[in-house]
Amino acid sequence: MKRINVLIVDDISDTRDSIRRLLQFEDDIDVVGEVGSGSEAILFSERNRPDIILMDINMPEMDGIRTTELIAQRAPECSVIIMSVQGEQAYLRRAMMAGAREYIVKPFTGDELASVIAKVYEMDQRKRDVFVNLTKVACETNTRNAEIITFFSTKGGVGNTTIATNLAVQLASTGKWRVLLIDFNLQFGDVAVFLNLIPKRSIADLAQSGTIKYSEIQPYFLTHSSGLQVLAAPTRPEYAELVTAEHVEQLFNEVRDKFDYIICDNASRFDDISLVSLDAATQIWLVLAMDVPTLKNAKLSLEVLEGLHYTSKVQVVLNRSSKEMGMNPQDVEKSLNVKINYDIPSDGRALVAALNQGVPFVTSHLQSKASEGIRNMARKLTSSQEASTKNEVKEQEHKNRGTLKGLIRVFGF
Ligand SMILES: Nc1ncnc2c1ncn2[C@@H]1O[C@H](COP(=O)(O)OP(=O)(O)OP(=O)(O)O)[C@@H](O)[C@H]1O
Ligand SMILES: [Mg+2]
Repeated sequence: MKRINVLIVDDISDTRDSIRRLLQFEDDIDVVGEVGSGSEAILFSERNRPDIILMDINMPEMDGIRTTELIAQRAPECSVIIMSVQGEQAYLRRAMMAGAREYIVKPFTGDELASVIAKVYEMDQRKRDVFVNLTKVACETNTRNAEIITFFSTKGGVGNTTIATNLAVQLASTGKWRVLLIDFNLQFGDVAVFLNLIPKRSIADLAQSGTIKYSEIQPYFLTHSSGLQVLAAPTRPEYAELVTAEHVEQLFNEVRDKFDYIICDNASRFDDISLVSLDAATQIWLVLAMDVPTLKNAKLSLEVLEGLHYTSKVQVVLNRSSKEMGMNPQDVEKSLNVKINYDIPSDGRALVAALNQGVPFVTSHLQSKASEGIRNMARKLTSSQEASTKNEVKEQEHKNRGTLKGLIRVFGF
């Protein structure tokens, strides 16, 4: 008989130890991992797909409810059992809504825990079988590479990081897309600050770990509460030189087929690192502001990009557009001989407040015109992907009619 694989999630290591001890004599249960945070739980579950996840509710950074919600999206075949203390009834209700299958109140005995695990495992057996088949179908078909969007500007402070982080969070928070945000501003990258994440490891540590392999990358990612994965910039400017163009190339090779969108924030200059990022990009988003020095540099950048044969990948983003700038978007289009593809209005009040709270404005200031601009941006970007996904699904449905018929029978619709 197959043994039940269990992951323990609790921020207190003594608690994790005692749960592990409670289960150590159960013949049909294997504790395959224990982690101390929600973000580690998500990464572990995506990678190892444990049958059962024992989840603490109260954890710093990301609580057990949000973690359960994200696991339900990203590793839906895993069954979550919430471990709570008396008096957390309101939380429990929310946890069940988030996708937990059962709960157990602390303190519990080994027998009680083993019997809840066995019950949930039994209950979800059919669900797991269905997912094994679905995963097989998906693996046979899902060879599409990520849309890689490289943000670029040739003048600092025009809003690269602001737009890259908010777009990435907007895409990830829908739960539909696997999104990775990489901070290639290696000396003074501030993506982690924008998202209030504390980088324990950065791209520099990854580069030092030897040849970059996807199987070893995941501990270097930070997980934002939107579900976004982030590879942060080095924590000190002098570590920037540890990362070479070759590392960046290896990184793209390893991650491009693991995500739907890879968003890259770059330093405002042409150098080894940004050139690899521009080369790997499927779309280069040139960010402009409405001032003469930025436009002068943008003109030069467009010429360089043309020389590199990247013109067909370039999309133009006008940031901080406002009627009070002494020029309008048409003037910008005329002077650069380009079409503006995206337009984000200026909203200093909302943006500064969000930045100081360490939250993306697209989630904290929903009414802001700038948030509306980001939502439109995400909608426009994903609509083409959604259309092609639909076509692929149709083709695949045709090819896998036999398998899908079986799955439809199991689902019963
Ligand atoms: N649409 C906007 N409305 C108001 N303020 C904005 C807007 N976009 C960006 N800003 C502000 O401009 C400042 C610079 O933005 P940001 O750090 O994103 O620029 P950057 O291009 O990444 O700069 P750097 O070259 O330093 O990396 C920030 O304080 C940000 O809040
Ligand atoms: Mg920046």
